[in-house]
This record gives sequence, structure tokens and C-alpha cells, in this order.
Amino acid sequence: MISVLPLERARRDTYRLIHDLSDQELRAQPNPEYSPLGWHLGHIAFTEARWVFGELLGDGSLWESRHTDFAQEGRPKNERGDLPSRSELLDYLGCVRREVQRVLLDVPEFPGDKARRLTEGGYLSWFLAAHERQHFETMAIVRTLIRGSLGISGKHSRPFGEPPAVRRIRFEGGSFLMGTDALCAYDNEKPSHRVEIAPFELDATPVTCADFAQFMKEGGYRRPELFSEEGWALVEREALDRPFGWLSDGSGGWFQARLDGVRPLYGAEPVIGVSAYEAEAYARWSGARLPTEAEWEYALSCLHQPYAGSFLDARNAGPMPAVDGGGQLSSMIGNCWEWTATRFGPYPGFVSGPYEGYSAPYFDGEHRVVRGGSFATHTELLRSSFRNWYPQRLRSSFVGFRIAYDL
Ligand code: AVJ
Ligand code: FE
Repeated sequence: MISVLPLERARRDTYRLIHDLSDQELRAQPNPEYSPLGWHLGHIAFTEARWVFGELLGDGSLWESRHTDFAQEGRPKNERGDLPSRSELLDYLGCVRREVQRVLLDVPEFPGDKARRLTEGGYLSWFLAAHERQHFETMAIVRTLIRGSLGISGKHSRPFGEPPAVRRIRFEGGSFLMGTDALCAYDNEKPSHRVEIAPFELDATPVTCADFAQFMKEGGYRRPELFSEEGWALVEREALDRPFGWLSDGSGGWFQARLDGVRPLYGAEPVIGVSAYEAEAYARWSGARLPTEAEWEYALSCLHQPYAGSFLDARNAGPMPAVDGGGQLSSMIGNCWEWTATRFGPYPGFVSGPYEGYSAPYFDGEHRVVRGGSFATHTELLRSSFRNWYPQRLRSSFVGFRIAYDL
């Protein structure tokens, strides 16, 4: 018997995220980087059926006929808007889940080596719950884009004032064990391996909105020397002069969309909505740099604090102002993802996991590792070895950054 509880918990959150959205909103594609919400719902059900019926039982029910509609490789993103109705999508989710529960709960053991590899140590239900939760975050981004398109409504912004003083935390470095060998982890986190870290410093908190506003005020977006060549090309092509979706009402503060609409920003909350290029330019402007992925994980391993919760626990619709950790790093986990200086790639000895298309297709030099998890990342996904990645130019996800210094 395989536990379905992780799946049920993930599903409750999925339903909560979309319960008040209409058919039309589920079909909307507010940004070409993301599929419509309804596609994600179909893809979640499809993936569950493909793994349980296809991979485990060698049976095509409930997924083969949906391959073109809902597989990652089925249709390009801009052709995913022709979707079943909301109630048909929910029926599909419910129907797959009922059958999956029946199979997972009733069958004591699945025959064959492949089945053993898939079910060992709870891998299959871990994977399906993690998969749904990762799509949850992407759906939260799309929901934010939909609600953001409604614009500012009646609220006043809060002037940012001076950027908060930031403490730097010093790390002595040395040898540390990066990654994991846990069974229930993604292929890209494995195998664990020793990494040498040179001494460095890291800001105690991510770069805040007030910090970033200062960069803007001092002409950061007009200084090509702060940007990489590719970064500057993006600034020029898209006439960038602020983070993604920042709106002004002319009274000194800024607004940005959150899950339930556009709202005023606090100066002390982490800036999100910047590409890796803008993060690098800001870092250069500050006489700093982005931390490498290894430095980031090493720094986290030196931290002895419980992980912060996500909005799923705390009911936040965006990142929380970063609090001073009293000489410790703060806000490392579950507030905003953080850009690193590292391209997404395999660790030495990498072997593709059962889901071969999960990581390897993204080892293309165009994707950058982001670490830490956002307010929309469920704590079940967050472990110190967890790696996420986005295209370097992407500005619309829940990604900010913190800066590091050579010693
Ligand atoms: C790790 C967030 C980049 O959404 O493309 C979901 C996760 N992979 N289904 C993505 C994923 C397959 C992936 N990211
Ligand atoms: Fe997926």
C-alpha cells in the first residue's frame, strides 16, 4: 500500500488557489512565459495518471488520449488556451485521483524492477505531491498576473524612505558536503559531493524594495557598464527601468501585484520581479556580486534556525519584510527565491532520475539556479539541497536576490 496523504494535502492547496477563478480566468494567458491555469490543472491530473497507470501498471487509461493536450511536450505554450471548461477539468482531476487512490491503496505490491524503483521508499507519492506543489507555485504566479492586470484600486502607496541598514555575515568557508543522496529528492540534487568554499560575506537579508528604488533613483538602469552584454541588450530591447509590474501613483512609493490584486509595497520587503541581469547590475553597483549556488547552500548549512513558513501556512500573499536576524542570516527559506551566479547544471556523477525530462533538458546554459523558495513554495518542497531554476531573463516569477562580497 502506498500513502496518498501527501497527494491529498497538495490537492487541498490547489483547490484553494483556484476556487474563486472563472472559466475565463482559467483559460487566460496573461504572459506568454506561462501556460493558462486550466492547462496546469489538466497537466497535474495527466501526470498523475501517466505515472500511476502508464509507468507503474503499463496501462494507457486516463492519460494516453490526453497526451497532446496536457503533456509538457504536447503543445507549445501559446497553443494551450483551447481548454475544457472548469467543471470538466475538475472532473478529470477528481476522476484520476479516485482511480489512483484505488490502485495505490489496494495493491500490496507492484511486480517488476521498474515498479520497485518507482515505489521504493515512498518515491512515487513523494514525486506526485512535489510535482503538484511545483505547479502550484507556477499557478500562483499566473494568478498574480491575472489579478495584477486589474491595476491599482483605491489604495495609497507608502513612501519607502531610506533603505534599511544591512548587516553582512562573514563565512570562513572550508570544505562542505553539497547536495543529497536521499531517495526522495530530485536527480539534480544528487549525488552529494565535497565542495571547497573560500571565505566570503553575505548580506543578512535579501535586497529590499527600498534598496532597489535607490539603485533606480541613481540611474542604475541607464548605466550599461553595470550590466553584462546580454543584460544590457535586455534592458534596451524591453526599455526596462523598474522591476516587473512596479506601478507608481506619483506619491513616492510603489505597487506590485500579489495573489489577490495590486497592493502597496513596503520598503523593507524583498524586491521580486527582477531578472538575473538586473540582480547582477545591482550587485555591481553595490561593489558586490551574486553568491554562487555552493556559497548559498553552504551559508544555509551554517544556519541553525527553523525554516520560515510559506504563505500556505502564514497566509501571506507575497514576501514578508525581512527582519534582522541578530547577526544571523534571515529570510533564506520560504520568502523569495534568490538568484545565484550559477548556471543550472549537473553535479559530478549526475544520473537522470525516473522522470528523465525533469532536469536534463534545462542544462542548457540559459537557466540560472535560484535558491531558497518563495512564499508560494510549500515547506514540504524545501530542503537545503533543493534546486530550482529559471531562464536568466525571466522577471515575472517570485525571485529576488541577496548579495555577496569577496574578502
Ligand atoms: C523546476 C519549476 C522549473 O515548472 O518547469 C514541473 C518544475 N517540471 N513539471 C517547471 C516542473 C515538470 C519546473 N521548475
Ligand atoms: Fe510538470
